[in-house]
Amino acid sequence: MTQSAHVLTAQSGHVMTINWNRPDKKNALTQEMYASASHALQSAANDPSVRVVVIGGTQECFTAGNDLADFLNNPPLGDDTPVARFLRTIATFEKPLIAAVNGVAVGVGTTLLLHCDLVVAADTSVLSMPFVKLGLCPEASSSYLLPLLGGHQRASELLMLGEPFDAHTAKDCGIVNRIAPAEDYQRVALDLAEQLAALPPASVRATKSLLKQSHLTNVDARMREEGEIFGRMLTQPEAIEAMSAFMERRAADFSRFG
Ligand code: COA
Repeated sequence: MTQSAHVLTAQSGHVMTINWNRPDKKNALTQEMYASASHALQSAANDPSVRVVVIGGTQECFTAGNDLADFLNNPPLGDDTPVARFLRTIATFEKPLIAAVNGVAVGVGTTLLLHCDLVVAADTSVLSMPFVKLGLCPEASSSYLLPLLGGHQRASELLMLGEPFDAHTAKDCGIVNRIAPAEDYQRVALDLAEQLAALPPASVRATKSLLKQSHLTNVDARMREEGEIFGRMLTQPEAIEAMSAFMERRAADFSRFG
């Protein structure tokens, strides 16, 4: 497969970094970017010299989530799409995965964090899961994992109202481990990666596996269930109105829907 120019990978010692790199579109994720990131993760999984992966964005932000034009013009339907494959890859990735978050982390930009082992957020980060506002429903097994982390009420607030929230709220909900000043978040994430990479790799992997094992089946089942509903909703008039409104830079009008 061809590597997307919008996903940068690098390796330093035992740490691989994967960075979303489409700053002119706030790192909005296209099908090509998901495919490229999955490919990088598979390479990391197969390469014994990689012990830890750090996923991040650019100086400006983590990611504005799925590209809405892509959603409108090329809706990913079914569970064999680049986005579905990417989500299953991060959910089952066996080596430690660390996220370094700054700026906006919208939609999948927040839900992918639920699959990471450690999350470092800049104190200026703004997270959100505006699926309902977009006429959609949760994805990435967030409807399963978020209540598990933060309880039903907090998960309902974040997933139903879909309002942006800061790094401190994310930490309260268990989504974020460490909050760092914006100029430091990347160093903090890389320091944690180096710390993990210096430990016995088989012990680290066994610990990750033991921590995740009891939820794997449920996570996979919920991801597929959400994917089916999400796919149906993506082509409905509510979602088309919401996404068209964003592209046309106007407020969405849901008044005609029953
Ligand atoms: N899909 C496609 N393009 C996107 C995008 C997305 N998810 N998010 C941002 N962009 C594009 C904008 O259209 C704009 O492109 P243009 O300069 O060609 O007009 C550019 O990125 C900059 O975005 P802008 O909205 O001007 O930046 P902002 O700082 O005012 O706002 C966000 C940033 C992330 C809050 C805002 O862009 C946003 O709400 N994006 C949509 C997020 C979303 O709903 N994601 C899907 C979740 S499922």
